[in-house]
Amino acid sequence: MPASESDPAAEWDAMYAERSTVWSGEPNAQLVAEVTPLAPGTALDVGCGEGADAVWLAQRGWDVTAVDVSEVALDRARAHAASAAVAISFEHVDLVATPPTPEAYDLVSAQFFHLPDPPRGQAYQGLGAAVAPGGHLLVVGHYPSEHIGKDHPERLFTTDEIVTLLGDDWQVVTSDVRERTAVHHGELTDLVDGVVLMKRAG
Ligand SMILES: C[S@@+](CC[C@H](N)C(=O)[O-])C[C@H]1O[C@@H](n2cnc3c(N)ncnc32)[C@H](O)[C@@H]1O
Repeated sequence: MPASESDPAAEWDAMYAERSTVWSGEPNAQLVAEVTPLAPGTALDVGCGEGADAVWLAQRGWDVTAVDVSEVALDRARAHAASAAVAISFEHVDLVATPPTPEAYDLVSAQFFHLPDPPRGQAYQGLGAAVAPGGHLLVVGHYPSEHIGKDHPERLFTTDEIVTLLGDDWQVVTSDVRERTAVHHGELTDLVDGVVLMKRAG
């Protein structure tokens, strides 16, 4: 995780450039758990990284827009989509500077989109605003109780923070803290995920 957000594109590009592959290439476990029961529609993958979630969604019939601030990550995500033979709309966007289009998506998925606050609150409200009436917002992050985020505690958030940010117009479908063991930056690691799935009033 870059140390600051002063130039997120350059910082994330540099992080990705350190290795030919950073993430596992598999979809995130909580995405699979929460989204499998939903009917496909339009989806926004926020900070899509190397594209595994976007490819998984597209393979299940979602019409996916995948956004990242890093061109290095987007190039890998485009290659992943091409090898999986799925069509995905990739966009190079800083979602803090340019929030997504309001009410445009049936699903907005933010997996490990860790920002300091500010701008986290405003950015996540923008993600909520991008959900169409009746659609879902899925937010998954490293929960503050575990060691993964110790170097960047200011970037960690609780499930309650997300639920409170969105307010009354939303139904809480899932608000949970889940432990799992997975390969993280090349090492088998105990992880704790905060998982929030919210449904916007129709
Ligand atoms: C921790 S990685 C998670 C990647 C992917 N969601 C996953 O779970 O494998 C966070 C991603 O968010 C992207 N990102 C960070 N700040 C961003 C911003 N302001 N706008 C868009 N993308 C951003 C980074 O480039 C990076 O790919």
